[in-house]
Amino acid sequence: MITLNEELLIASGGVRRVYRHPENPKICIKVDARKDGRGAGVTLAEACLFEQLMEQRDQLDFVAISNYRGRIETNFGFGAMFDLITDEITGRPSQILMKMLEDEPQFIETNRFKTALKRFRHDLVQEAVLCRDLRPWNICVQKLEDGDLRLTLIDGVGHARKKWFEHIPLFVQIKMHYYFFSKYIYPGKRLHEFYTKRSSRYSWKPGPMLSKGLDQQKKSDENL
Ligand SMILES: Nc1ncnc2c1ncn2[C@@H]1O[C@H](COP(=O)(O)OP(=O)(O)OP(=O)(O)O)[C@@H](O)[C@H]1O
Ligand SMILES: [Mg+2]
Repeated sequence: MITLNEELLIASGGVRRVYRHPENPKICIKVDARKDGRGAGVTLAEACLFEQLMEQRDQLDFVAISNYRGRIETNFGFGAMFDLITDEITGRPSQILMKMLEDEPQFIETNRFKTALKRFRHDLVQEAVLCRDLRPWNICVQKLEDGDLRLTLIDGVGHARKKWFEHIPLFVQIKMHYYFFSKYIYPGKRLHEFYTKRSSRYSWKPGPMLSKGLDQQKKSDENL
């Protein structure tokens, strides 16, 4: 069993808490935030779904989705391991799109972002895995060494409760992907609406792993 502590917390979402792996900085561990009630069991359901998907794909890694790396028992119960998305230069966990929007709304108008979004949509459709929840708090914006950005989906693959979701024919899945993109992401105005009108459904909180990084980043920005 592995011991997680609050220092290792990257962020809490609506139903889960996500920690940095204490022995492997490239891996994060997701655990359910509650033992009963809303969200209880989602981490295990998601792990089962990824195990099934990976078998179907002959263990081929995803490009636009954070890759599942197995189960782990923790002091907070069942844990699922995933590749931790980190900024290439700092090695710190990457920020979510929602937070980028809140801090700097013009960000989505930049060519850097538009290029990354185009590539993300293309890659996600290529993965041919139905993702129901493309909301901006489930997308990490990774800063690459050369200054480019890469978007990665870190949550919302398949549907934890609706098993039929996985058995939809491929061409319908691809059509639905375009639907989810137009619902949650396109046009740019949609993204703006998220941080103004719909933020009540957003219950994300950064943990020490992310906020510590932000303080340091602010300081180094000030020193430039
Ligand atoms: N692979 C990852 N790499 C970097 N950060 C991650 C990763 N997975 C999760 N996070 C961080 O943890 C937060 C919560 O994770 P996640 O979205 O899986 O939780 P959740 O409770 O299921 O979310 P929701 O509120 O969408 O139900 C993310 O918004 C993100 O900040
Ligand atoms: Mg989420």
